[in-house]
Amino acid sequence: MKILLTGATGYIGRRLKVRLLQDESLDLRLFVRNEKKVRDKYKHRLEISEGSTFDKQSLHKALKGIDVAYYLIHSMGAKSDFKKLDRLSAENFLNACIKAGVQRIIYLGGLGIKETASKHLLSRIETGEILSSKPHSIQTIWFRAGTIIGSGSASFEIIRNIVQKLPVILAPKWIRTKTQPIGIRDVLEYLFQAKDLDAKKNLKVDIGSEQMSFKDLLIKASRVMGLKRIMIPVPLLTPNLSSYGLIFITPVPYSIAKALVQGLKSETVIQNQNAEKYFPDIHPRPYEEAVALAMSEIENNQVISHWCDSSAKEECDIKGKDRVKGMFSTYQIARDFGRLPAEKVFDSAQSVGGYHGWFQQNWLWRFRGFLDKIIGGPGVNRGRRDPAALRIGDSLDFWKVVDLKKGKRLLLFAQMKLPGKAWLEFSIKENNLVQTSYFIPKGLWGRIYWILTMPFHALVFRGLSKGILKKAQTSPMV
Ligand SMILES: NC(=O)c1ccc[n+]([C@@H]2O[C@H](COP(=O)([O-])OP(=O)(O)OC[C@H]3O[C@@H](n4cnc5c(N)ncnc54)[C@H](OP(=O)(O)O)[C@@H]3O)[C@@H](O)[C@H]2O)c1
Repeated sequence: MKILLTGATGYIGRRLKVRLLQDESLDLRLFVRNEKKVRDKYKHRLEISEGSTFDKQSLHKALKGIDVAYYLIHSMGAKSDFKKLDRLSAENFLNACIKAGVQRIIYLGGLGIKETASKHLLSRIETGEILSSKPHSIQTIWFRAGTIIGSGSASFEIIRNIVQKLPVILAPKWIRTKTQPIGIRDVLEYLFQAKDLDAKKNLKVDIGSEQMSFKDLLIKASRVMGLKRIMIPVPLLTPNLSSYGLIFITPVPYSIAKALVQGLKSETVIQNQNAEKYFPDIHPRPYEEAVALAMSEIENNQVISHWCDSSAKEECDIKGKDRVKGMFSTYQIARDFGRLPAEKVFDSAQSVGGYHGWFQQNWLWRFRGFLDKIIGGPGVNRGRRDPAALRIGDSLDFWKVVDLKKGKRLLLFAQMKLPGKAWLEFSIKENNLVQTSYFIPKGLWGRIYWILTMPFHALVFRGLSKGILKKAQTSPMV
């Protein structure tokens, strides 16, 4: 069986790729926008086809000879109208699949009904409808899941951060809305088994474990984490206010907090029993078990994918941004590391940010992150997927990794709200750690911003390179 996996660099797709690779009889091809986001360790086991669903030619190439195609794509983070993009993307995909003679499309969307759906969910429903619209030409299995519980998923990061940081939780009215969570491993199992399903017609399969309110999600998660939490009902807390509150407590930016809160205003429970009927061997694990598994992955640094892995937003679209040229301004510091092993220095540079911070003037980094959050940016509490290792496409506080050459170069692209574009580069040149910041201002305000912030940049960047060398000197060799 030849399989095409789209969205293979996103939250679900990265994990499904690992699951599919466990079956050695499968012939797997990935459809990705940027091949560099796929780690080398997988490359010998699969084929990679680069392209976009907006580029029909690349789609036709990727779908050649494919039997089953997974559709795990959405445009939610895009700057322009995501609904329109989602529609076009699904139409292109469906038509290309039919033309290529694909037998089955497997799609994962959200739980919920049209009448009460948020804008985001409506778009997911429309995508499912488009993909299922030509049943005589191609079969579509459309899974619908609500809150997915897994390390690094946006919903779980929200639950985890609320529970861990707030001894007293102010509970808005929507906290009583019913939902039906599901653990990520169960989602992957449904998706995995669907390729072999003995069914010819289109199917909608709603998946979830037990029904509960969002309040129960918090209370049960706190129990798993060994914490006792008190809830105080605050019926006047509006969705907008709640979303604002969430951005300071959790790693998600305002746009995602708002979409999730909007989604929680209406019930997301299963509407059909097809999961039981067609997948009788899968018994979704109880919510508390899924929470415990997610926590153990976080504690053991085994987070395979993260909610901000995708480059959906234009500024995270990293392709072509690994070369920095045409700069307005650069600020470079070179530090001689003498007899220290270069790999140690590079590993130390790779460990910047996240929980351990930015070595020196950490408060300034955090303050900048706080300002960024207020104006809708990612801020610094987004953290990093793994405390030591990075891969291209990883987010790192308010940066995105856009180039990584082990032992040689790490290039970060700034995703914070800025009047321009900025990069931060670490490279090893002979015995020097060279740290360079680049900035391309947007208009006059961009130039004023750069000049006004120069003293702060000089301070933090000097402290940063100094801190990297200090850590390299003191850390043991691995
Ligand atoms: N995550 C959840 O908690 C959850 C819950 C319920 C349902 N779902 C559903 O599961 C599906 C996958 O979600 P996800 O969370 O994995 O999404 P995600 O992390 O945002 O990943 C989206 C993926 O789509 C790719 N992509 C976007 N536009 C593309 C285009 N035009 N051409 C080719 N690739 C494109 C992205 O590639 P780049 O890396 O290049 O950006 C990325 O790999 C969605 O339908 C979602 O509604 C997810």
